[in-house]
Amino acid sequence: MRIAIIGAGNVGAALAVLFKAAGHQLTGIASLSLSSAAAAAQRVNVAHGTDLLAFTKQAEVIFLTTPDRVIVEVCEQIVSQNGFSAGAIVAHTSGAHSSTILESAAQNGAYPLSFHPLQTFANPDAGIQNLPGSYITVEGHEKALPIARQLVEELGCKLLEIPTASKPLYHAAACIACNYFTTLVEEALQVMEAAGVCRDDGLPALYPLIEGTLKNIKRVGPTRALTGPIARGDASTVKIHLSALEKKLPELMPFYKFLGLATVDLATAKGTLANLERQKLQEYLGGDV
Ligand SMILES: NC(=O)c1ccc[n+]([C@@H]2O[C@H](COP(=O)([O-])OP(=O)(O)OC[C@H]3O[C@@H](n4cnc5c(N)ncnc54)[C@H](OP(=O)(O)O)[C@@H]3O)[C@@H](O)[C@H]2O)c1
Repeated sequence: MRIAIIGAGNVGAALAVLFKAAGHQLTGIASLSLSSAAAAAQRVNVAHGTDLLAFTKQAEVIFLTTPDRVIVEVCEQIVSQNGFSAGAIVAHTSGAHSSTILESAAQNGAYPLSFHPLQTFANPDAGIQNLPGSYITVEGHEKALPIARQLVEELGCKLLEIPTASKPLYHAAACIACNYFTTLVEEALQVMEAAGVCRDDGLPALYPLIEGTLKNIKRVGPTRALTGPIARGDASTVKIHLSALEKKLPELMPFYKFLGLATVDLATAKGTLANLERQKLQEYLGGDV
């Protein structure tokens, strides 16, 4: 297939490499700045530039891999100059937005698609490495879906199809799993630092624990993977944590308590928490008893 990339950032540059490796022909890569377009194009040896319409007309699939906030205006700009061919597929890779934000493409006879790689692209190389084997979530025009399924397979990825209206909630789930998990690790490191363990030692020390936890979650799911004082009903241990935090990091108490209460619910679902201990935990963590 002939594919154009508009927006030569982390996702655009990675997809360009992966699509080329899958045997597709890139018509070109356009971006806001010439330097980004050139850097991405150099990876795949294709034409590049800042003219957003230079490579769209001859493409069968056009990926708008710009930041979410400009997808609508970039699409409308191309549509207004009749830049998409009739029958082409216009795709964005946003997680939160649905294909409906590309509805203007219909004026050129093109079909909108959302094609969200459920993976984190910290930079193009990380994306190229991590994407194969990941899920890609697609929804959009029925004429676009067969091609989307084919592209997912050719990228070595797994397909997840969701209803158009589900995209915001679906993306909230992805953010909790990825971004908020990252924040969680950062908070744990801050607590380690308060305990006198510097960051350089703290992260390598916590990492095997994190990996072990992830493996358990993969194997048996989060409920059965839950261990620790709340799962065991050791309310007195949680009390010790709270008084230590209050002395050294009082600003982290709401964070600890909020997640602690959610963990009490998970332990209750696991069935390992006696009623009395659950009441004590809820009292210490500030929830309803
Ligand atoms: N990063 C992730 O982990 C990830 C994961 C899944 C999905 N996504 C989605 O993928 C899309 C791209 O994200 P990203 O992380 O790759 O963003 P990014 O690294 O910031 O790249 C966006 C690119 O779009 C270019 N751009 C900005 N405005 C433009 C315009 N008006 N016209 C043409 N190009 C323009 C940027 O400009 P320059 O030319 O100035 O560089 C930049 O190269 C977003 O919809 C995002 O939600 C991201």
